[in-house]
Amino acid sequence: MNDCKKLRIAPSILAADPGRLAEQAREAEKAGADYIHVDIMDGHFVPNLSFGPNIVGALRKAVKIPLDVHLMITQPDRYIRSFIEAGADIVTVHLEAPHPVSKTLKTIREMGAKCGLAINPPTIQDRVIPFLKEIDLLLCMTVNPGFGGQPFIKEVMEKVRFFRKIIDAELINCQIEVDGGVNQDTISLSAAAGANVFVCGTSVFANDIESSINKLRKNAVEASPQTL
Ligand code: DX5
Ligand code: ZN
Repeated sequence: MNDCKKLRIAPSILAADPGRLAEQAREAEKAGADYIHVDIMDGHFVPNLSFGPNIVGALRKAVKIPLDVHLMITQPDRYIRSFIEAGADIVTVHLEAPHPVSKTLKTIREMGAKCGLAINPPTIQDRVIPFLKEIDLLLCMTVNPGFGGQPFIKEVMEKVRFFRKIIDAELINCQIEVDGGVNQDTISLSAAAGANVFVCGTSVFANDIESSINKLRKNAVEASPQTL
């Protein structure tokens, strides 16, 4: 199967117990998580603060699965090196942030990481088209970024369907990730629309980690179209 279409559960460490990040990341890995999603917030691009490269470094020591680092920061190009040196495997930057997008994506790849591009719910899909062949992952935000535990915005599924069609028709090697409010129900909507990477914060860490991941995966597999 095409690796870009593999269904992946990416627990978001933002929702873990802040005093036990490494331990909970290990628990998620043991329970079969495919990635650990790490939300980086600067209090500027989004109205909240979270982690810096040192936390990515600590998680790198804790788990072997890829670290999927989501930069919700202004001028992400200034910090890419620090996050990749700390152990990020995938670095995702926002299309809405002020930076030279193509150049930033190229720098991420040159430094040996996979590059992702994220769009907020209000951002029009057409703005992504010029970058689709330059990215390994497209992150369609299903909440307005900044905080965990927000309700899933269903309307974003239209965008996911739109990108799945193009990516399949043009055989582009790009994963589609959804992030925000993904739970046992909304994972089915996301998988049916064509997403293959599911960021799950509250739905994993506010519950039993192992059984939540198993159920989320089962629901994604059941809802996912045959072509995935
Ligand atoms: C939102 C973050 C998400 C968040 C998801 O700004 O990008 O990754 O941690 O958390 P839940 O799953 O609780 O919405
Ligand atoms: Zn995120």
